[in-house]
Amino acid sequence: MTPTSQMPHILDLFRLDGRHALVTGGAQGIGFEIARGLAQAGARVTIADLNPDVGEGAARELDGTFERLNVTDADAVADLARRLPDVDVLVNNAGIVRNAPAEDTPDDDWRAVLSVNLDGVFWCCREFGRTMLARGRGAIVSTASMSGLISNHPQPQAAYNASKAAVIHLTRSLAGEWASRGVRVNAVAPGYTATPLTRRGLETPEWRETWLKETPLGRLAEPREIAPAVLYLASDAASFVTGHTLVVDGGYTVW
Ligand code: NAI
Repeated sequence: MTPTSQMPHILDLFRLDGRHALVTGGAQGIGFEIARGLAQAGARVTIADLNPDVGEGAARELDGTFERLNVTDADAVADLARRLPDVDVLVNNAGIVRNAPAEDTPDDDWRAVLSVNLDGVFWCCREFGRTMLARGRGAIVSTASMSGLISNHPQPQAAYNASKAAVIHLTRSLAGEWASRGVRVNAVAPGYTATPLTRRGLETPEWRETWLKETPLGRLAEPREIAPAVLYLASDAASFVTGHTLVVDGGYTVW
């Protein structure tokens, strides 16, 4: 048995000093709080987001760097990964939602949602994963959703739910492929969280009422309540965890 004095302190396992973390969709909402959490744990942070107006200020606040990126553009993702070959932690967080009844979903809505939420995650995993594999180390955490495990109601969002279920299974697939080469791949599955993404839903009384009633903890999450789960999976504290989706949903999926 290793004596306690020779073991790393358990809280030190959560530190990310000297590591470079890149967060897509980190300009606001959940992504910004994840970026803030990783920076507080010692990482150098790059926020990669479509929106420079918000993203540049967000990166400045964390003494980090902003990169304008559309995750749906595979060439742009490849270019960024070539320019930043030292990313140790990739957080695939950029995501969008469109609400439409399945039978009336326009092709463009379906494509837009799948293209950001699934294609974008895969392009980033492929490109940043390649450099992690070359260095023999890395941790990837994707923001999936409880919508990948249940189908939400009353709002219709089949494309979103399908995209998040795919992210959960992509996570398992990549974890299996890359485990023996030092790269762990995990996901978090948040429940309803108060961000610009859910603002419209909160303003719709029927949606709001159902969301609160069906969440055992009786409220929405604050974005900062998702960040510790991401930090855990990104850090050495989770050195034996891969292919996992950590649910942070106030209990929504227990009923
Ligand atoms: P948000 O709308 O507040 O922030 C999303 C960020 O992603 C924005 O900064 C936006 O500019 C960026 N983005 C959008 N499309 C992009 C693209 N093509 N390329 C690069 N960046 C892009 O959303 P929120 O709520 O913070 O969501 C973050 C993630 O969490 C998403 O993947 C979302 O699906 C997921 N999620 C959100 C939940 C919620 O209740 N808010 C619940 C479960 C999951």
